[in-house]
Amino acid sequence: MLLPLLLLLLEMMCTASGWLSQDILDQIESSRDDVAKIKESILNGDQKHRAYDRLAVLGDRFRERLCGSQALEDSLDYIYEEMNKEGITNVHFENVTAPKWTRGKEYAEILEPLRRPMSILSLGSSVGTNGQNLIAEAVVVRSFDELREKQNVTGKIVVYNQPWRGYGGSYLYRTIGASEASKLGAVGALVRSITDFSIYSPHTGTQTYSEGVEKIPVACITVEDAELLQRYHDRNETIRISMYTEPQSSGDVFTRNLVAEIKGSEFPDEVVIFGGHIDAWDVGTGSMDDGGGVMISWQALSVINGLSLNPRRTLRVVLWTCEEFGAIGGSAYFDAHKDNSDNVSLIMESDHGVFNPKGLHFSGSGLARAIMEEILKNLSDVNTTTVLEGGGASSDTGSWVSLKNVPGVELYSADEMYFHFHHSNGDTMTVLDRDELDRATILWATAVYSVANLDDILPRDGDYPATDKNKPV
Ligand SMILES: *[C@@H]1O[C@H](CO)[C@@H](O)[C@H](O)[C@H]1NC(C)=O
Ligand SMILES: *[C@@H]1O[C@H](CO)[C@@H](O)[C@H](O)[C@H]1NC(C)=O
Ligand SMILES: *[C@@H]1O[C@H](CO)[C@@H](O)[C@H](O)[C@H]1NC(C)=O
Ligand SMILES: *[C@@H]1O[C@H](CO)[C@@H](O)[C@H](O)[C@H]1NC(C)=O
Ligand SMILES: *[C@@H]1O[C@H](CO)[C@@H](O)[C@H](O)[C@H]1NC(C)=O
Ligand SMILES: *[C@@H]1O[C@H](CO)[C@@H](O)[C@H](O)[C@H]1NC(C)=O
Ligand SMILES: [Zn+2]
Repeated sequence: MLLPLLLLLLEMMCTASGWLSQDILDQIESSRDDVAKIKESILNGDQKHRAYDRLAVLGDRFRERLCGSQALEDSLDYIYEEMNKEGITNVHFENVTAPKWTRGKEYAEILEPLRRPMSILSLGSSVGTNGQNLIAEAVVVRSFDELREKQNVTGKIVVYNQPWRGYGGSYLYRTIGASEASKLGAVGALVRSITDFSIYSPHTGTQTYSEGVEKIPVACITVEDAELLQRYHDRNETIRISMYTEPQSSGDVFTRNLVAEIKGSEFPDEVVIFGGHIDAWDVGTGSMDDGGGVMISWQALSVINGLSLNPRRTLRVVLWTCEEFGAIGGSAYFDAHKDNSDNVSLIMESDHGVFNPKGLHFSGSGLARAIMEEILKNLSDVNTTTVLEGGGASSDTGSWVSLKNVPGVELYSADEMYFHFHHSNGDTMTVLDRDELDRATILWATAVYSVANLDDILPRDGDYPATDKNKPV
């Protein structure tokens, strides 16, 4: 008799429900009937596969959503109209200033030791080759250390063939590779694409020139070509490359963050914010980065609105603009609204692809995490119950989490293949799955709706039993 009781007590102490007060449990439970309606309408009702179909229309109709492009503004206008048509409230734009950069024609060739074409993509903000072919000897390095220690690169094109060490461990070669090469007198740079998989795909992305250095043209090359050039280099063969690029920077333009809401019935000034970034690279259709994040957010709001559910707090979708050029929309949104941070219960962004969803990355207090876990428990039928500690600060939401202590969420999905497609022509609808998008929408809608219905905003302090088992219940 005693042992089972002890085990039960231990079990209770080690799970979120055992830790949370009956009062909070009841508050969470009070949203479950509505959560069931959300699930039903997506799994079996008229919202089934709508996220996928709408996302396909966005990509098929507007294709590129590059920061500064008319197509980006057109797609924003399109979503604005659709949201208004379906009766979502307070749909509005907030102005943002961002740089306009266009790609133009570009090509490159290895001339020596054997003539062969290379697929390239200029990196965002790169200058071009002044209407000429830039022809120079190439030097291949595997790291910045090799660049500085071993090579005389004056007058040459530097080829970076850095190994993949995860995105965080590799992307500096893309972002500052040109400047580092230029400091040593190089006239151009080619960077191995930041990816862990390639079928001869160049992967673009943004880069920045350091203050005071000569701006030299920079593009990414495929993993295959980077390794080929490395082999030539290791055999001491002279490499000569020709590259032609004509990207243009045309100063700052106006773009917009798009905001849409369901007003809270009891605490309209308090909000749960969720979204993704609407801009994308000009290759592929950006359906993965970050069309998926945009769409599960819009669709979650649509479903809740369509069912005429009334959250107690305001649900606010924000589609951030120009993330790819340095989270410009995200920064503008934070600057404009940070004084309200005490009224932001939770901020969520999905910007790591929407693949088979498993749950949420969560940054915030242990007690808030226990609440999220309890909310997600009800999603065991769609396999999205996991709440991971940390990783909840995303590209456009990081400042809210790190500077204002607002609880943050990023989607946790089976994103192992994210960088296979990232910033490449492979980022299209073909990467996404109808049912996965549906389950992610259920997860997203359940989280925002249940959090918005609690008596208070999510607690910013408090512990969690799983990491603090010795505390009394
Ligand atoms: C936003 O930009 C548009 C177009 O430039 C302008 O008409 C409008 O007044 C601006 N709105 C605000 C709030 O600054
Ligand atoms: C590097 O190469 C350039 C051009 O070939 C040459 O003028 C320069 O003297 C070299 N510098 C060093 C330190 O060898
Ligand atoms: C390439 O040159 C270096 C130094 O000049 C030499 O040590 C190395 O053995 C050479 N490699 C090949 C494959 O010839
Ligand atoms: C926060 O919300 C409360 C109502 O819940 C409101 O009285 C207050 O003005 C809001 N504060 C800010 C900074 O918006
Ligand atoms: C979700 O909660 C409702 C209400 O408590 C319950 O009837 C249902 O079985 C739960 N579903 C899952 C999968 O936990
Ligand atoms: C949930 O996971 C189980 C076990 O892996 C699997 O059999 C089931 O099909 C999954 N359900 C959904 C909706 O993905
Ligand atoms: Zn992104």
